[in-house]
Amino acid sequence: GLWVRNLRLKRRLPGPFAWPLVGNAMQLGQMPHITFTRLAKKYGNVYQIRLGCSDVVVLNGDRAIRQALIQHSTEFAGRPNFISFQSVSGGKSMTFTNYSKQWKMHRKIAQSTIRAFSSANSRTKKAFEQQIVAEATELVESFLRLSAQGQYFNPAHELTVAAANVICALCFGKRYGHDDIEFRALLERVDQFGQTVGAGSLVDVMPWLQSFPNPVRRVFTNFKELNQEFFMFVQNKVKEHRETFDPEVTRDMSDAFIGVIDKADNDNGLTTGHTEGTVSDLIGAGLDTVSTALHWIILLLAKHPEIQTKLHEHIDKVVGSDRLPSIEDRGSLAYVDAFIYETMRFTSFVPVTIPHSTTSDTTVDGLHIPKDTVVFINQWSVNHDPLKWKDPHVFDPTRFLDENGSLDKDLTNNVMIFSAGKRRCIGDQIAKVEIFLFFAILLHQCSFKKCPNQDLSLNCTYGLTLKPLDYKITAKLRGELLTGQ
Ligand code: HEM
Repeated sequence: GLWVRNLRLKRRLPGPFAWPLVGNAMQLGQMPHITFTRLAKKYGNVYQIRLGCSDVVVLNGDRAIRQALIQHSTEFAGRPNFISFQSVSGGKSMTFTNYSKQWKMHRKIAQSTIRAFSSANSRTKKAFEQQIVAEATELVESFLRLSAQGQYFNPAHELTVAAANVICALCFGKRYGHDDIEFRALLERVDQFGQTVGAGSLVDVMPWLQSFPNPVRRVFTNFKELNQEFFMFVQNKVKEHRETFDPEVTRDMSDAFIGVIDKADNDNGLTTGHTEGTVSDLIGAGLDTVSTALHWIILLLAKHPEIQTKLHEHIDKVVGSDRLPSIEDRGSLAYVDAFIYETMRFTSFVPVTIPHSTTSDTTVDGLHIPKDTVVFINQWSVNHDPLKWKDPHVFDPTRFLDENGSLDKDLTNNVMIFSAGKRRCIGDQIAKVEIFLFFAILLHQCSFKKCPNQDLSLNCTYGLTLKPLDYKITAKLRGELLTGQ
């Protein structure tokens, strides 16, 4: 037994033959997560590929991924020292920083501040929900405006603005999407962010691509500019907050970070710039992901009119027509949550997490992985594992409902989209509240129809998030137009 185990420990990681210079970069294809899943069938759930100058271990399937991220949580909590990571949030990002004592402190501060402004007590909870309701009713109005005379429109931009307004309200006590033209213009380009930091991006693993004009270099230049502009927007807002800071009154999350990071005589290594870095992290993480989720939800609603009808009946029965749905209805609107979970599972719109790296030598499945190895976590493979899910390629929200029509918590816990372990998303709770309220209010107020001469395609673009291709829908008011008040 021991002899066999030692032999396994020493075994080189399996994986495809890697070509000189590029390694396996040319084999990733348009949808790397699908390629990774296919390679897992051949080499097992833990294997190695080479991208340019970097060895990358790819983890697939629920068991191997949880073993790594939960049982060996510290060993897998690192981030690679990619050049692209250094231009995010003025180089003072928490998200794109390697594991360290300082990072732990940074993450704790971000986590507790999010909690303080979303769920700490009934007052903050209420304020957070009211903000979303206000945003959702504005979204309904702009959808109806864009649908005037039965016109068809692409909802992408309005969704980004709505999600941006929620996170800006938390961070700055003020929404900007509607009155700040520069911010709106910036939002139109944020989707380019994920192309560079998504797993499989070549910027970081082929530094020689920076030395002559080519598409990868162009994307990277664009990325650096975008980060700079975005960071400048955040810096200006934080500066205004510093100038009017009152230690007695914490107006919003920026004030909270100023209070903890700027003002505290901290021995934690965090400096003033980390305040802007943290705010910038949260805005970046909070708008692209939530808007992408809503984008897929609307597409799938329009694609499955029979499910939409059932959802409308469900919501009419539970909420009625003379008030808007609220977060208190969530327990009774299991079908709505089931639709959200199925959207997250089926699309797996964050298919691979932000790249990890190992903080020390470690093993998964008895396979040895050295310190400082880049690790890709293939979330898509967990959500499409045929051993775990019946007909994983079929969109069916009812898979999450038990015989009483209640949400099956054991099953919803098996969906992996927020990652797990030490790097798990810290915005998962606020994201779920946001998505639920936006979706429930949109459903309550509108019905959605696809353009008759267009087949709604599930094809998408790859990056940190998968985004649906351009599509058009129209929205129709179902009853009376309601507001949150
Ligand atoms: C990290 C998913 C919304 C803040 C992540 C990661 C994923 C993820 C997959 C990477 C985990 C890893 O590398 O292992 C999502 C999804 C969302 C969402 C699917 C919406 C549906 C949000 C929101 C916020 C947020 C609303 C904050 C306002 C963060 C932060 C990190 C992160 C700060 C970095 C954590 C770290 O590196 O320690 N998220 N997220 N996310 N998310 Fe989210």
